[in-house]
Amino acid sequence: MIMAAAATVMLLSISAVFAVQTSATQISDTDMVYPKYNPKPKGLPPVPIPADNPQTPTKVRLGEMLYFDPMLSSDGTISCASCHHPAFGFGDGERVSDGVGGSEGGRNAPTVYNAAYYETQFWDGRALTLEEQAAGPVENPIEMANTWDNVVMYLKSDREYTKLFNKVFGGEITKDTATKAIASYERTVITWDSPYDRYLAGDETAMTSAQTAGMDLFFGKASCGGCHAPPLFLESAFGNIGVPQTKDTTHFPNEGMDDMLAGYDLGRVYVTGLDEDMGRFKTPGLRNIELTAPYMHNGIFATLEEVIAHYNMVPDPVVGELEEDLVTDLGLTEEEQAQLIEFLKALTGRTYSYVPDDIQMEISTLLLSELLVRPLE
Ligand code: HEC
Ligand code: HEC
Repeated sequence: MIMAAAATVMLLSISAVFAVQTSATQISDTDMVYPKYNPKPKGLPPVPIPADNPQTPTKVRLGEMLYFDPMLSSDGTISCASCHHPAFGFGDGERVSDGVGGSEGGRNAPTVYNAAYYETQFWDGRALTLEEQAAGPVENPIEMANTWDNVVMYLKSDREYTKLFNKVFGGEITKDTATKAIASYERTVITWDSPYDRYLAGDETAMTSAQTAGMDLFFGKASCGGCHAPPLFLESAFGNIGVPQTKDTTHFPNEGMDDMLAGYDLGRVYVTGLDEDMGRFKTPGLRNIELTAPYMHNGIFATLEEVIAHYNMVPDPVVGELEEDLVTDLGLTEEEQAQLIEFLKALTGRTYSYVPDDIQMEISTLLLSELLVRPLE
């Protein structure tokens, strides 16, 4: 099963890579020829592309190489994909992530799927763009623990990178161009065309009866849709929904604050300093949510069952105050909770992305969902 899936991945990746290389020699580097590189997914808004960083096929290919390259880390072991891997729904399947030398972070690695649509990046929204976000991990001591000077030196010493940077950025190899390329790749990590989308488009067989019942609950009795608003099932806002926390004074010492707060992740307040943002985190998108366990900013819930049980009976928050519009006792029956979960699974869609062939070695050891490598039509 895994062998077969790996073979599919290999075929797909080879054909995709081949397509790019052909384009490099024969066709000019424009997104009109390869719409994959400038996704306009049906039923979703077009992916926002910043004016100063247009999508081109070769830039995306370069960004993908950088994204999957562990040589960007200080000891050559950690790439972006270590924590945002296609085989784990572009997350890492861990409660919190391990970086260089096994050092642990304080938060759960969010998926890169549809991150291109967020107005802010990170659970607390401290970065505004994917470009700005991508600069961080390389120098973060508990992620890749490197310096950009080192990375630039490495990139300049590599023939393939030199060639690609020449083609895309006229030879300029800097932190700025590298992060632009990574962000361009991330803008192709999009998911859409789920059973829910096909149902909306008129295919009544696309969702099961449990899923349509779950959809009615999602937008009705369970009142999820106000915050997780379609079509992306996200909200450009931050909320305190009372997610349980255990004290973690290593990552959240909160020095100079009330002693009671020591060890708790205070979320958005770190960015704004506003009391009302205490314990608020970004409302994440729910597309492909089935693939990105565990859940919440601290990965505290291992399953969707646990997430729904939380919403069904929301505890007092560890810090700050719950959102006023959050219903704390939904009174969902077991059957309704199961239907809600079925609906969330109807949000698993197709994606443009694939696993490049140079990381085939890792794949056999990973759980691979065939959904992740569903070919393009
Ligand atoms: C050691 C694990 C690790 C590595 C390596 C890593 N990340 Fe992350 N990433 C995380 C964690 C954890 C967060 C959430 C941190 C937070 O919110 O404070 C995150 C957040 C993000 C986000 C924000 C998504 C959102 O929903 O807000 C993006 C995008 C992202 N990373 C991309 C990258 C890229 C690109 C690289 C490589 C340059 C990378 N990451 C390397 C763990 C990692
Ligand atoms: C008041 C706004 C609000 C409402 C209502 C709401 N959510 Fe959320 N949801 C959030 C926020 C904010 C988070 C992130 C919280 C955190 O990490 O501390 C979240 C996280 C989640 C996650 C985890 C996402 C991930 O990537 O880890 C799932 C799943 C989820 N919500 C599903 C639902 C469902 C199902 C409902 C209805 C029962 C619902 N939400 C109602 C705001 C809301």
